[in-house]
Amino acid sequence: MSDARKRLFIKTYGCQMNVYDSERMKDVLHPLGYEPAEQPDGADLVILNTCHIREKAAEKVYSELGRLRPLKEAKADEGGMTIAVAGCVAQAEGAEIMKRAPVVDLVVGPQTYHKLPELIAKTHRARGEALDTEFEVEDKFDQLGNDRQVDGYTAFVTVQEGCDKFCTFCVVPYTRGAEWSRPVDQIVAEVRALAAKGVREVTLLGQNVNAFHGEAPAGSEADGPWGLGQLVRHLALIGGIERIRFTTSHPRDMDDDLINAFADTPKLMPYFHLPVQAGSDKILKAMNRQHTAEEYLAIIERLRAARPDIAISGDMIVGFPGETDKDFEATMQLVRDVNYASCFSFKYSKRPGTPGAAMFNQVAEELKTERLLALQALLNEQQVAFNESQIGRTLPVLFERVGRLDGQLHGRSPYLQAVHVEAPADMIGKIGNVRIEGASRNALSGILVTSEQSAA
Ligand code: 5AD
Ligand code: SF4
Repeated sequence: MSDARKRLFIKTYGCQMNVYDSERMKDVLHPLGYEPAEQPDGADLVILNTCHIREKAAEKVYSELGRLRPLKEAKADEGGMTIAVAGCVAQAEGAEIMKRAPVVDLVVGPQTYHKLPELIAKTHRARGEALDTEFEVEDKFDQLGNDRQVDGYTAFVTVQEGCDKFCTFCVVPYTRGAEWSRPVDQIVAEVRALAAKGVREVTLLGQNVNAFHGEAPAGSEADGPWGLGQLVRHLALIGGIERIRFTTSHPRDMDDDLINAFADTPKLMPYFHLPVQAGSDKILKAMNRQHTAEEYLAIIERLRAARPDIAISGDMIVGFPGETDKDFEATMQLVRDVNYASCFSFKYSKRPGTPGAAMFNQVAEELKTERLLALQALLNEQQVAFNESQIGRTLPVLFERVGRLDGQLHGRSPYLQAVHVEAPADMIGKIGNVRIEGASRNALSGILVTSEQSAA
């Protein structure tokens, strides 16, 4: 351990799991004297926490490394700059990165970043010794502990990692490894510690979060592991935690207990991200999604029966190999049937090593673009309509920080919409009731009517 203050810059790409991992990297490096920096210039340690989910991921990393080279050279006489590549590109192409980019000092996978202090020490002895992309997920969480550097009132908590689904378009099962859940006691300890530091909202993360099956807490009467519904109800008992969310779920792992949690646990927010990817059963089968469009729609119906105001969000891929006009129309029809509050949509991109990449019936780029535009126009309409439907309602808003305009605060509705409201700064970290008066595609605005500390 050293007392000298050092500067750490982390650039995070990709999903919320990477955001969580970046926070935890800051936590493990804090005792070594590393303080977060806003810019890479002059930093002692720069970490690129990379994502491999869609195209050009590796190229982006190499061009970022190119930009870092002069900064590293400039710092050579002032203690030097250590450059690390972390995350899923590191996992997939670690050895190649070390070979191709001499500017990189160390490579660390998503399951081994708790060993960063040790790897940095190794690097300072000799470059090339520090490449660690083993899968040791249990070890990682044991070592990370609960002492997180909290910044604000909302926090991510990883509860599950990895995926055994092997959708044929997706690299995650290869970069994040097999499905694994954290023990309930360990999660509870982390959430309690966050609550003690003022956190009001936790988002439970997992690549397949609703496949969660964590070891039951000590003293629990239940046989076997707990599901996500049980975990959510248990976390709802923790004082100070007012809101719970989770992401990302798979239709195959939906169970009644989780659906019922939306009905019986007010702290579980009425917003649910449930990707379907496509609306044609033929394409769903080729994607190895292991469910039909009808089964997906039946789940949405059950969710709406349990919590009538639930907002549904999703992910869609257009142009998967073999997708015809008719298949694409089935996607459009499914979107009309669901009526999404928000939805991400992507053009299919070939990921090296996945079955989809080897399929012969790839769709032409121009056709993918055309379909994406048509899909996004429909999704935009739905999102605007959903936001506008809030006008006139009074919603509980958790205020997270000051807004862009003077006197304005930025908060979130139960449906994860951004809300901009004129409110006193002491409302930050609290939930206030806001009468919604305006809506656009990306945000709501309104008037603070009462301030009270209660969940939805
Ligand atoms: N091409 C396009 N989109 C993809 N996704 C994952 N892999 C690919 C791919 N190869 C999308 C899926 C997933 C989201 C995180 O990214 O929609 O749900
Ligand atoms: Fe990828 Fe499918 Fe697993 Fe999601 S469920 S991480 S899309 S393989």
